[in-house]
Amino acid sequence: MKTIKVEVVRSNGLQTYEVPLLSETMTVMDILDYIYNNLDHTLAYYRHSICNQSICGRCLVNLDGRPVLACAEYLEPTAESIKLAPAAGTVVRDLVVKR
Ligand code: FES
Repeated sequence: MKTIKVEVVRSNGLQTYEVPLLSETMTVMDILDYIYNNLDHTLAYYRHSICNQSICGRCLVNLDGRPVLACAEYLEPTAESIKLAPAAGTVVRDLVVKR
């Protein structure tokens, strides 16, 4: 199965994960959920329980340097790696930001 390298700028530094591409239509939120559920239960981010419909705006993260809504941003099918970082604001922990 094809995987993607996911670098995450966390509160304690850069961490790298190898995530399988389970479908061709994975969102950034799907990636974060996979990491949280299967690889690292300590990763902090806003989860689907917020709205998951591009409404609340709380899942905003930086994807390769540009702000995106994690629940609405689909990965490029050809991407081999991505870098996620907290959006602008005060970092509470990892990708959780107070704006
Ligand atoms: S979870 Fe509400 S906009 Fe993404």
